[in-house]
Amino acid sequence: MPHVPAGTRGAVITGWGTALPPKVLTNHDLEQMFDTSDQWIVERTGIRERHVGGTTVGLSIESGRQALEMSGVDLAEIDAVVLATTTPDRTVPASSAAVQHELGLRCGAFDINAACSGFTYALVLAHGLIATGARKILCIGTDTLARITDWTDRNTAILFADGSGAVVVEAVDGPGQLLGWDLDADGSAERFLYSDIGGLIHMEGKEVFRRAVRIMVDSAQKSVAAAGVDIADIKLVVPHQANIRIIDAACERLGIPMERAATVLHRTGNTSSASIPLALADALSAGRVADGDLVLLVGFGAGMTAASAVLRWGGGAEPVNPL
Ligand code: ACO
Repeated sequence: MPHVPAGTRGAVITGWGTALPPKVLTNHDLEQMFDTSDQWIVERTGIRERHVGGTTVGLSIESGRQALEMSGVDLAEIDAVVLATTTPDRTVPASSAAVQHELGLRCGAFDINAACSGFTYALVLAHGLIATGARKILCIGTDTLARITDWTDRNTAILFADGSGAVVVEAVDGPGQLLGWDLDADGSAERFLYSDIGGLIHMEGKEVFRRAVRIMVDSAQKSVAAAGVDIADIKLVVPHQANIRIIDAACERLGIPMERAATVLHRTGNTSSASIPLALADALSAGRVADGDLVLLVGFGAGMTAASAVLRWGGGAEPVNPL
């Protein structure tokens, strides 16, 4: 459970953006496709509708452009585009290369795949690049899961969708926002959630559910301990948007009231790598976070992976880890 050592070059998020394809698929639309009901889906998942369509590159350009514009950065100072995605448009090259070009950037560009934990992995990675000298990083989480969803399988088709969220992370003189983090993976659980190359998603929902709650709680507790903060002081938790019951159970075990959770899944479904930046952007745009607030990001996904990070919004004035 790594804490960020005192003296590390810090970073803060200075802009964010989101993208959802225009096509909306409601639970009532799904009722026409297979044997299910709006009531069952809402009760078991919290999802009411989701957006489907578009490409990973196209959605990433849209969210990335918004984040760049909001931060007002000089494009020449972006040193890397890190794109978290499970669904790149091509096997080769990385989708981030096309995104970089279309956004008018000239810098490093690479994709990472840690399933639904991907954005949090990417954010930690961005801080690592900044600690070693990078100035500004465009960090994006995008997935187009509709392309690998079996639309005849009611066990999975009710969950998955498309979307993108992006942030600009900039180096600062002070300690920065990242206080502690945790990245985890358990490859022995691969069989519970996977898609072969060219294939569709297979999932053992009950097993994923059971493990998800456990690994989210475990990862969140490690990050909070690494950050040296009290869980009661977390102002906003931004969990992976898979199922409202998973979020509910994880928050209960962590002792975080549900009112402090950011949720958008009722209208986005599970957008994998995009889910945490979409929920974060929604909470930020709604004014739910002020400078100095503690924000906990926590995700889990296929792998099975888990990732979490504790941020002090705005970078904080005090030392990162007063040891
Ligand atoms: N509509 C109506 N009935 C359904 C549906 C549906 N869409 N799907 C399943 N059922 C039925 C089942 O057939 C079963 O019927 P039976 O009792 O007659 O056999 C009954 O409902 C209960 O099914 P369960 O699978 O036990 O339902 P559960 O409460 O576990 O909910 C769900 C299923 C929503 C998939 C849940 O297990 C879940 O959310 N799991 C986690 C999934 C997840 O988070 N995946 C993403 C991971 S992140 C990533 O990397 C992409």
